[in-house]
Amino acid sequence: MRLTRTAPAADATPVKIHANGNGSAPANGSVPVATPAASSASVVVAASAPTAVAKPRSNRLKRPADDCERDGLLKGKKALVFGVANDHSIAWGIAKALYDQGADVGFSSMSSLIKRRVRPLAASIGATFVEGCDVRDDDEIKKVFEKWHAKNGDLDILVHAVAYAEKEDLAGNFSSTSRDGFHTAFDISVYSLIAMAREARPYMKPGSSIMTMTYYGAEKVVPHYNVMGVAKAALEATTRYLAADLGPSGVRVNAISAGPVRTLSAHGIAGFRTMHNAFAEVTPLRRHITIEDVAGTAVYLASPLSGQTTGEIIYVDGGFNILGLPVASEE
Ligand SMILES: NC(=O)c1ccc[n+]([C@@H]2O[C@H](COP(=O)([O-])OP(=O)(O)OC[C@H]3O[C@@H](n4cnc5c(N)ncnc54)[C@H](O)[C@@H]3O)[C@@H](O)[C@H]2O)c1
Repeated sequence: MRLTRTAPAADATPVKIHANGNGSAPANGSVPVATPAASSASVVVAASAPTAVAKPRSNRLKRPADDCERDGLLKGKKALVFGVANDHSIAWGIAKALYDQGADVGFSSMSSLIKRRVRPLAASIGATFVEGCDVRDDDEIKKVFEKWHAKNGDLDILVHAVAYAEKEDLAGNFSSTSRDGFHTAFDISVYSLIAMAREARPYMKPGSSIMTMTYYGAEKVVPHYNVMGVAKAALEATTRYLAADLGPSGVRVNAISAGPVRTLSAHGIAGFRTMHNAFAEVTPLRRHITIEDVAGTAVYLASPLSGQTTGEIIYVDGGFNILGLPVASEE
């Protein structure tokens, strides 16, 4: 099994500033926001075909033939990941890490992305459960979970890595946010977590884990993040309310607050590149955040290691959130 990819082009302009924000990431995949870097990403996947030694049981996710002995923190766990748009997606980084730790992984993404983007990635980790879903539609969400249950039984790990706001609401004045734009951002980026938790709940046993992706713009003002900052604040509150609701059933709900990562969605935010470049100059650990960094924390949240952690917002931002005055150092 081999997976190669073209990395996004390096950004040419180093910026020395008092970064009053790092950028980040709402947005979509259905209407790709201008993102030459992400859209030029090529994925070449040579998936190892499962050899016909034994017929895979129909109610189990198939694994690549060379991979049956996978071990790890999540061995035997079953995960469903929403939000892979391409191999730069945070959802993909998480899916890969869950798989590397022994979990079987299934996917749900926008239908328009399934054939060219999601299926090849899924095949590279032996995943056969790949379902289209527009999270604005409750029936579509319900069907995904019903199909999951029919094919795989229970669900141990649910990853919600979905967000969208209209491009015009991620630039300019916050007070110009339209009512429709506000509804759209909240519907896709916040309500979808509630709907997914509701549909997943019957299939999640004690010890199961739900996680979503948020950003520091929920707490502090970040230029151009606008309506998505308000949506992320609601998403963080939703995480806490769901954690209290599902906690007695032994299901945990947490959010990862990631620093800026160059993804398709992130490039929909005005000025994202400038903010992204400046981030590594000011954040205490002095480097950019990768999807692998986020995935490491996702593995922890999916595993029994975080067995008594719920309703939390966990930062994966190199320490950016602790700064009172994020300025580039003089050295
Ligand atoms: N990239 C960052 O800097 C960053 C930082 C912090 C948090 N996040 C969050 O991480 C999550 C994943 O975003 P990403 O940066 O990996 O970008 P991404 O573009 O790779 O993923 C966003 C996903 O949301 C999906 N989506 C949008 N509208 C949808 C709909 N109606 N139905 C179903 N799916 C829909 C897109 O198709 C895409 O797969 C988002 O919640 C984002 O806000 C991103």
